[in-house]
Amino acid sequence: MTYYRPRTVARAVELLQKPDVRVISGGTDLVVRMEKGLVECEDFVDISYLALNHINLTDTDIVIGAGVTMATLARHPLITEHLPVLALAARDVAAPQIRNRATIGGNIVNASPAADGVCGLSVHDPLFSVTGPAGTRLIPFADFFHGPGRSALLPGELLTEIHIPRAQPEGTVREVAHWFKHGNRLAQVISVVAFAGRTFLDAQDKVIEARFGVASVAPVPYRVRDAEAQIRGRVLDTALATEIAAVVGRSVTPIDDQRGSAAYRRNIASILARRHLTDFADGRGRGLTGEPVAPIPAPPCHEEGAITFTLNGADVTYTGDQSVRLLDMVRDHLGFTGTKNGCGEGECGACTVLVDGDPVNACMMLAGNAAGRTVTTIEGLTAADGTPGLVQQAFVDAGAVQCGFCIPGFEMSAQALVDNAAEPSEETIREAISGNLCRCTGYIKIIDAVKLAMERNGEVQE
Ligand SMILES: Cc1cc2nc3c(=O)[nH]c(=O)nc-3n(C[C@H](O)[C@H](O)[C@H](O)COP(=O)(O)OP(=O)(O)OC[C@H]3O[C@@H](n4cnc5c(N)ncnc54)[C@H](O)[C@@H]3O)c2cc1C
Ligand code: FES
Ligand code: FES
Repeated sequence: MTYYRPRTVARAVELLQKPDVRVISGGTDLVVRMEKGLVECEDFVDISYLALNHINLTDTDIVIGAGVTMATLARHPLITEHLPVLALAARDVAAPQIRNRATIGGNIVNASPAADGVCGLSVHDPLFSVTGPAGTRLIPFADFFHGPGRSALLPGELLTEIHIPRAQPEGTVREVAHWFKHGNRLAQVISVVAFAGRTFLDAQDKVIEARFGVASVAPVPYRVRDAEAQIRGRVLDTALATEIAAVVGRSVTPIDDQRGSAAYRRNIASILARRHLTDFADGRGRGLTGEPVAPIPAPPCHEEGAITFTLNGADVTYTGDQSVRLLDMVRDHLGFTGTKNGCGEGECGACTVLVDGDPVNACMMLAGNAAGRTVTTIEGLTAADGTPGLVQQAFVDAGAVQCGFCIPGFEMSAQALVDNAAEPSEETIREAISGNLCRCTGYIKIIDAVKLAMERNGEVQE
């Protein structure tokens, strides 16, 4: 097994021509599939050391690097202001630990029927830029997805960028834009139905163009072209909204599964389409402003071979197997057993550690990706004299140390909030711990503890 960390797209593409190599980006799909035995990987090409985490403006397009994470898409002003449907879709992916790792490129290439990022992108008419041994080509959204897990990407090709046209259709006076994710709970949920809508209106509310993207209602996320064609050129009113919503419900082709019946999904798709077409409140349609995002330079490391990184403040060299999970490396190889192995699927947060300051699931990241980075485990939260650190003491004082399994992960998520000096509001705290599950007592004392830690941190800073 060799774990490669190429520094240029050309080198990555060269490595991808070897047999049995697999691209890994955030790893949040791939590692789950590996753990379930669904894919076997011989060698890895880790593309997170390429400069693919940029967001640029050209005269005609917004260009998003394939390595931009969902967390960045959800909060970056350029995206939230001008591609709000995509930003909201990214915010609805999983929970903070996954969003800090999951990339838009991985979401696209994974080609899941339930891919929220793809659904959010669909209404922006993206072109996918892929590079292979024969050069670079642009693939339109409509041609990219061939079925669950299948796409137009050829073996040995890399998705590098997403190009989104800046222009609205000519004559647009108002744009109505929405993102709806219907699921069984608020976080860590696969969409039962996702709906993205952008409708462009003229001064008389005549529809110049409408774009309806859906996910979890067909083998791949797609645009409901029937409904888009039937609404074009007509004045948008309640009767038309009802008619078009019915077309959306009839056009989608969902299946029955454990998350919902086909009939239920059709109904929800129709309801979401109607909601989009009747809620004119958040009309949009401005020019673009905002600063481009320069690529964040990857940390220094060797393309292959032993890795060095910082673990709880100390430099560590690791010479073992880099295809093991970060979780296994820190627990089994380096002896930091405070990080727990819960679900092993990115669901429970028991394995939360900080990587370069962001909470991530150590069960979703491979050891090779720690190269050059800074990793903090629960042991790293303890004060230098061995007494509990600020967050740990707050958990003790609030009576929130409920079990030894989940609390380390909760404390890591809390530490990230404290480090960011976030405002101690209940909403912020609930959001921050939404990727951490407690199966026993509940969240009240944990929320109190996080709030206490944030308040004490504020007092220290003042
Ligand atoms: C607990 C959990 C919850 C989740 N919830 C959601 C959710 O709510 N919504 C949602 O949409 N998804 C969800 N996902 C799925 C996943 O997080 C996303 O699909 C994510 O965007 C994948 O990106 P990644 O960088 O982690 O991909 P990886 O796992 O690194 O890669 C995925 C696949 O794409 C290939 N690949 C990646 N990047 C490239 C590239 N640039 N060029 C060529 N090939 C590439 C890899 O070889 C692999 O086959 C969830 C996953 C987990 C574990
Ligand atoms: S999220 Fe990693 S063990 Fe559950
Ligand atoms: S804190 Fe571990 S199950 Fe509740």
